[in-house]
Amino acid sequence: MKKLFICLSLLIGSLATFAQNQYNIIPIPQKLIPQSGEFVIGKSTSVVSATEFKDVANFLNEQLNVVSGSSKKVSIKEKGLASSSIQFVKNESLGDEAYTLKASSKQVVISAKTAKGAFYGVQTLLQLLPTQVFSESKVEGLKLSVPNCTIEDAPRYVYRGLHLDVGRHFFPVSFVKKFIDLIALHKFNTFHWHLTEDQGWRIEIKKYPKLTEIGSIRKETLVGHYGTGKYDGKPYGGFYTQDEVKDVVAYAKKKFVTIVPEIEMPGHAQAALAAYPELGCNPDKIYEVYTTWGVSEDVFAPREETFTFLENVLTEVMELFPGQYIHIGGDECPKTQWKSSRFCQNLMKREGLKDEHELQSYFIRRIDKFITSKGRKMIGWDEILEGGLSPNATVMSWRGEEGGIAAAKEGHDVIMTPGSHLYLDHYQADPKTEPLAIGGFLTLEKVYSYEPAPKELTTDQKKFILGLQGNVWTEYMETTDKVEYMTFPRACAVAEVAWSPVSTRNYTDFTKRLKVHIERLGNLKVNYAKSFLSAK
Ligand code: ACM
Repeated sequence: MKKLFICLSLLIGSLATFAQNQYNIIPIPQKLIPQSGEFVIGKSTSVVSATEFKDVANFLNEQLNVVSGSSKKVSIKEKGLASSSIQFVKNESLGDEAYTLKASSKQVVISAKTAKGAFYGVQTLLQLLPTQVFSESKVEGLKLSVPNCTIEDAPRYVYRGLHLDVGRHFFPVSFVKKFIDLIALHKFNTFHWHLTEDQGWRIEIKKYPKLTEIGSIRKETLVGHYGTGKYDGKPYGGFYTQDEVKDVVAYAKKKFVTIVPEIEMPGHAQAALAAYPELGCNPDKIYEVYTTWGVSEDVFAPREETFTFLENVLTEVMELFPGQYIHIGGDECPKTQWKSSRFCQNLMKREGLKDEHELQSYFIRRIDKFITSKGRKMIGWDEILEGGLSPNATVMSWRGEEGGIAAAKEGHDVIMTPGSHLYLDHYQADPKTEPLAIGGFLTLEKVYSYEPAPKELTTDQKKFILGLQGNVWTEYMETTDKVEYMTFPRACAVAEVAWSPVSTRNYTDFTKRLKVHIERLGNLKVNYAKSFLSAK
C-alpha cells in the first residue's frame, strides 16, 4: 500500500512538473490553475469575437497565420461556435486591464472588459503556445497546442514602463516599433521616449527647424569612458520627422502602449542651445551639440523668450502625443551659469526666490501651469522636488527612492525608477566579461528583487506609487543589438515586478520560465544577454 502511495505521488509529482513546465508566462499571472488536456488550434478552429475586440482577435489571427501559413479570417459573432473555437467575450465586471482565459479541449475563451484587457489575454495565449509561435515565418509541422488551464489576471500597477534614450544614440523607427512590440509582449503599457539631450535633439519641431538642422548632429563622439579625451572624429546625427512620430504613436496605440515624450529642461539643453543660443545664459557663446557624455553646464536661461519657445515646442509635442503625461526632464541642471547671470540673480530678487533651486522650481512651475492648462499632466525627474514641488507634478524617482517617498508623502503621484534596481544601462555581469557599459552593477536577480512600495510609506501613501519603469540610457549603446543586449532579459524582470502580485513572485521559478521565454525572444530576433544562465 505504502509502495503504491509512493508510486502514485511520484507520478502525480511528475505530472505536476510536466504541467508546470507548460505554463511559462512572463509576467506570471495573478492566478493560474493548470488542468489536464490541451486545446489544439487546427484548420477547423474558428476565431470568434465580440465586435469591439475584433482588432485584438485579428492581431492573434495574424500571428497564427504567419506561423501556420494560412489566411483565416476572424468572424465577428457574439456567440461562439459549438466546435473548436477561440472566443473573445466581453465581461463588464472585470477591471480595465484585466482578463480571464479559459482553455479547455474544445475552446479557448478570453474575457475582458476592454480591448486592452483582451490584448493582454492574447499575449498570455501566445505564451501558452509553443515558443515557435513567435517566429517570423511559417514553421513546418508546428502543433499549435495550448495546455488547458484557467487564468484570472490583472496588473499590480497601473504604470508599467520602459524608457529609451534616443538622444545619446539614435535608433530608427523600425527599431522603435520593435521595442514597442517587446514592451507589449511583457504587458508594459508605457514607452517613455527620451527625445532631447545635450548630445542631440531628435524630434522635428516645425516652428524651430534649427533644432533638428543643427541640434540633431554632433561633430564627433567621445570614445570610451569620460576622461579618455579621445573622440572618434565622425559626425553623428538623426531625428524623427513629425510624420514618423505620428506613425510610431499610431503603432503604439494598436499595441495598447502609451508614449510619454520627454523634452528636457532647464538642463540637458546644450543641443537646443547650439540651435538657438539666444535661449542660453550667454547668448554670445558659441554653443555646440555636446560631444562628451555627462552633464553639460549649458542650460536654458529662465527668460520670457525661453518660456515662449518651450511652450511652442510643447504645443507641437502635445499635438503629436495624445497621452496624458508630458515629461519635462528637470534632472541634473547645474546652477553655475544661473549663479553668475545678472538676469537670473535679478529675477530671483524680483520673485523672492532664495536660491537657484527655487529658481529651478519657478521654472518648472511655469511649465507645469502651461501643461496643466492644456489638460495634460507633467512628469519630471526627482530634482523637481528641490526648491518646492509644483502642484500637479508626478515625480519619477531615479536617485534612489527618497524623492519618490517625499513626493508620495506630499500627496503626489510617483513612478519608481531607482538607479539601484532599474537602470538597465548598468553592467549585468562581471565587467571583465561584458561589453563596455557606463558602470554600476545590476544583475537580473537584483532587478527581480525590487519592491516598489517603500516601507517608509503608510498604506494610503503607497497608493501614490503608480508603478515603475526600467530605464535604458544609451551612452554606451551604439547599436540596436546592444540596446537589446542591455535591456533583455532584465526588462522581463521589471515587467514581472510591475505586473505580478508579490505572492506569486519567486526568482528560481522566474528563471525557469525565463529559460523558455528566451526561446521566444530568440524567435523574435532579440539579442538578449545570456549571463544569467551561468550566474551562481
Ligand atoms: C537621469 O538618469 N539623469 C534621470
